[in-house]
Amino acid sequence: MNKRIITGCLLLAALVSCQSSTSVKSNDVEKRVEALLSQMTLEEKIGQMNQISPSGDVNTTAELIKKGEVGSILNVADAKTINAYQRTAVEQSRLGIPLIVGRDVIHGFKTIFPIPLGQAASFNPDLIEKGARIAAIEASSVGVRWTFAPMVDISRDPRWGRIAESLGEDTYLTSVLGAAMVKGFQGDSLNNPTSIAACPKHFVGYGAAEGGRDYNSTHIPERLLRNVYLPSFEAAAKAGAATYMTSFNDNDGIPASGNGYILKDVLRKEWGFDGFVVSDWASVGEMIAHGFCADGKEAALKAVNAGVDMEMVSYHYVNHLKELISEGKVKEETIDNAVRNILRVKFRLGLFENPYVDESKGEVLYAASHLEAAKEAAIESAVLLKNEGSVLPLGESVKTIAVIGPMADAPHDQMGTWVFDGDKNYTQTPLKALESAYGDKIKIVYAPGVSYSRDTNTGGIAAAVRAASSADVVLAFVGEESILSGEAHCLANLNLQGAQSALIEAVANTGKPLVTIVMAGRPLTIGKEAALSDALLYSFHPGTMGGPALADLLFGKSVPSGKLPVTFPKEVGQIPLYYSHNSTGRPFQGTETMLQDIPAEAGQTSLGNTSFYLDAGNDPLYPFGYGLSYSTFKYDNLKLSSEKLKEGDVLTVSFDLTNTGKYDATEVAQLYVQDRFGSVTRPVKELKRFERIALKSGESRSVSFSLPIQELAFWNIDMKKVVEAGDFNLWVGGDSRAALKGSFVVE
Ligand code: BGC
Repeated sequence: MNKRIITGCLLLAALVSCQSSTSVKSNDVEKRVEALLSQMTLEEKIGQMNQISPSGDVNTTAELIKKGEVGSILNVADAKTINAYQRTAVEQSRLGIPLIVGRDVIHGFKTIFPIPLGQAASFNPDLIEKGARIAAIEASSVGVRWTFAPMVDISRDPRWGRIAESLGEDTYLTSVLGAAMVKGFQGDSLNNPTSIAACPKHFVGYGAAEGGRDYNSTHIPERLLRNVYLPSFEAAAKAGAATYMTSFNDNDGIPASGNGYILKDVLRKEWGFDGFVVSDWASVGEMIAHGFCADGKEAALKAVNAGVDMEMVSYHYVNHLKELISEGKVKEETIDNAVRNILRVKFRLGLFENPYVDESKGEVLYAASHLEAAKEAAIESAVLLKNEGSVLPLGESVKTIAVIGPMADAPHDQMGTWVFDGDKNYTQTPLKALESAYGDKIKIVYAPGVSYSRDTNTGGIAAAVRAASSADVVLAFVGEESILSGEAHCLANLNLQGAQSALIEAVANTGKPLVTIVMAGRPLTIGKEAALSDALLYSFHPGTMGGPALADLLFGKSVPSGKLPVTFPKEVGQIPLYYSHNSTGRPFQGTETMLQDIPAEAGQTSLGNTSFYLDAGNDPLYPFGYGLSYSTFKYDNLKLSSEKLKEGDVLTVSFDLTNTGKYDATEVAQLYVQDRFGSVTRPVKELKRFERIALKSGESRSVSFSLPIQELAFWNIDMKKVVEAGDFNLWVGGDSRAALKGSFVVE
């Protein structure tokens, strides 16, 4: 269909406020950058572009810093050591340029919040911003002023271990939440000593690793890249992110650390980014293994010319840049620009004025208010997937509880992946939390059944069955150890590990009400266990305060409000499975003949056939956006401000939301839009707005979403970002299967 292009615009323009002051060039900073740069030798410039991870002898590292050979360190996280290195840089190197100290502060520094995928289930940007702010306060108190987060890779494959670090499968949700994290880390001004520079990663496409296998190649054509994978990074830039990290993958044959189009044309020219780009760990050197560079010298050449300002740990810049300049292959101007970018961020962080931290400031770590916020985050991150017969919340009639499963008392594992600094001794587990809150009123019988998630020893199951038989209700805490997700921890099988499924089956056979709580780093294929359970609560890895949060949820002191930020497949073979797919020419209808219904010796036919799996169909186990409450909600009375809109208009979508259940509760209302016919095929629906709405039991409220028409822009057949005129559908509801439907036309 030929459509008139009505406007070009920036998607997400209304989503995030304009660039924060931290990324606007100030004359003062620029003057200082130039003044310093003019005094630097080539060796000192290249030194600023080198990031090292100190290991072994402290004096060896100090020597390098003294010589001006190091611009940044990572993986040092105690105030005393950081101050010592900083003192060497500031007081003993020729120009006294402070180091920028980086650390993976991914979901908390000491106080560990739920994994990012869990936090995304809150659909709550304010909560996420607050969590990042707390992480920044704690990390900066020891001298860490730069985190390698947020991870805003769109992640549609639960086999990929790093889905745990992501904000899920959706471009809009990731954009909103990622921008909130940037704001939380960086605070009102980078200059504030409690602010840490953010580093959106991994730029770009890393989440689309073929087969969900980490570091694998990606094959994302430019239109898909721009419509799905780039917007979350652009939103982070608009939120003022100070740095970016390249990814490990090669996309369409080009490793990210050698991709000048993405780093220069898109990031700097299109988005106006003026901070610095760091490579991922040794990813410059890894371009040799990719077969993209023959040796370290070529790797340095390609990375620096592509726009990687700082090299993380692989040392090819220090070893080769000088020679490459003398050979005329790298311009000194390229080096100067990279150093400008790095110094600009160091000045903005106020490192020249305040290079050191007060070593006695330890009291902010695990502060009571931080633990309280982490508990709140864990409450909002839990998703209730099933609650048959309203077995939850547990009531007064419960006198004996059986607590089973390897995750009931696993202080290390409930923190999840990427926890370098959180101390398991501060973790509050569900078992401990239940004992401390209810131990005097309720008999709690603990029998884990298996000792850790991969444990295949079934010897403990009999005791778990005995505990279940003696109880009024069984709480089964299962899932994954933290080491089973995260970087390089991919799985081809997403069933519960070890003997956990046998454990669930055995306790279910007692006939006692069974509540299964899953702590995991990814969606697991838990259809079988879901069917055996009366209730299913998915908490992801909930962090330090997971125990008290779950105790509150189980007993109804809090009401679940989380929604899935990612589709849960029934079978691994359905992956990739995500709600925002294209239609195909033969969409699945749900009425297809399934495997078992095909007669023997059926003749070949393709008539009427659709795009689906004979054995698993196309439906997920649970769709994106899904999550129950102890209450129920009704959506009705949908109204659109207009059914005919044009360039520059804002569509207002309003509807009534009623809490029809017995509990005061919060619902995440969601708005989805479909651009029905385009110059290229468009997704069947896309999330465009969401809001958490708290309603008292019986309360009804009129809710409205404003949607500027510009936000319907996409990269079209001419690779232009435009809104195309035509027909649109929209839906509002509590998940991506929302049924309350309207339509409008853009003229
Ligand atoms: C990861 C990054 C991380 C870096 C520094 C790499 O292996 O891919 O996400 O920030 O290490 O620890």
